Amino acid sequence: MPSFQTSPGTRDILPPQAGRWRALNAVFAGVVESAGFECVIPPMFEDLGVFLRLGDATDVVTKEMYDFEDKGGRRVALRPEHTAGICRSFAQHRPTTPWKVWYSGSNFRYEKAQAGRYRQFDQVGIEVLGSTDALLDVEVISLGWRFFQELGMSSVLLMVNSLGDLADRERYIDALRAYFVTHSESLSAESRATLERNPLRVLDSKRPQDKSVIAGAPTINDFLSDEAREHFSLVCRGLDQLSIPYAVNTGLVRGLDYYQRTVFEFVSTALDSAQTAVGGGGRYDGLVEDLGGPATPGVGFAMGVDRTLLACDAEGVFLAGDAPLDAFIIDVTDGFAALRIADRLRAAGFRVDRAFDGRSMKAQMKVADRSGAQVAIIIGSDEAAAHSCTLRDLGTSEQRLVLEADLVENLSALVGSRTPRRTTS
Ligand code: HAM
Repeated sequence: MPSFQTSPGTRDILPPQAGRWRALNAVFAGVVESAGFECVIPPMFEDLGVFLRLGDATDVVTKEMYDFEDKGGRRVALRPEHTAGICRSFAQHRPTTPWKVWYSGSNFRYEKAQAGRYRQFDQVGIEVLGSTDALLDVEVISLGWRFFQELGMSSVLLMVNSLGDLADRERYIDALRAYFVTHSESLSAESRATLERNPLRVLDSKRPQDKSVIAGAPTINDFLSDEAREHFSLVCRGLDQLSIPYAVNTGLVRGLDYYQRTVFEFVSTALDSAQTAVGGGGRYDGLVEDLGGPATPGVGFAMGVDRTLLACDAEGVFLAGDAPLDAFIIDVTDGFAALRIADRLRAAGFRVDRAFDGRSMKAQMKVADRSGAQVAIIIGSDEAAAHSCTLRDLGTSEQRLVLEADLVENLSALVGSRTPRRTTS
């Protein structure tokens, strides 16, 4: 046993899985950049106060925050999500609106670790600040939908709801509290404790004992103002226009407290029932103001990378990893030819690896086969003397002798041409 292992809830993402993560990021960037979103990289830790805005009755704030005092006596926290940090960033820099940004990175929540639920997990997401337009909500949701489509997933269901404006939400919470208090005898002990802190969260309970009480609870629908109802109806009509299938789920309240009006979640039916949400988001029109900025509406989502890839595994889709090597160089002379050729081919845009430590032809050939390269470039003493090398197609075993000077052309003929890397000269 080695002395150290990864901490609970964290994992090493090893090759080839790590390549798949990067490929997923590239798909996401392609989708959102096609809609004018630009990348932002906020810090991984912030003043704790930034994240307290997620809600003093949420688990994320009360139980799961990685917060500590730094050596300068500041109370800071590792980000449990990106949205609050991005709103802080908006309030600090005041970019022109609408500010359409995307991000990708790790988040930290001290949760009970299990499959699909980690203490360090990655998200990709978008946020738009500066518009209340319901059709913007539709654009945001549609980009999330497109992302899952481009990964090849067919197990994703979209659920939408409206939490109304602040006053609607508060009236609804009061009504829920009154209802659950009357039925508190039938609720689980956990839900009774949740009720004290936040009646909305009781709706999230998956405990069988709570089910029938929750089924009879008032729904937000009866508390929406005319404006909020009209906004939500536009969102639904927009989704219809794009033929994006969705279900209105009046029990969908989300786990963070900053939401108003539209909320949505993407769930995968390919995942087991405990952790099915692969992403979610909604409107948070009061958050920037809460963080000391000007009143600015906002809407966005975040997708869980870990969970999305688990769902892809379950569906057998998006098996992408790193691109394979084009060539593997086998040099059984002094290794200088391999050094030169690898450098030249890499500059010409090829993916090339080689062996070290002066190993035998047989040993190097084995590594070349295992590397997944399409072509082996072999340099023995005869080849070295003639400034040439043998190109061996590792698929067909055909080989030919070529001059080192003609290598790029000959390799291109076998694996296709590549774009040369930019040089500084
Ligand atoms: P969230 O629902 O807390 O929303 O997280 C979004 C997604 O991140 C979840 O659906 C899930 O896939 C993934 N996720 C969350 N916690 C974990 C975990 N412990 N382990 C693995 N995956 C996890 C937010 O974070 C909001 N900031 C989304 C948003 C953006 N709303 C508006 N803009």
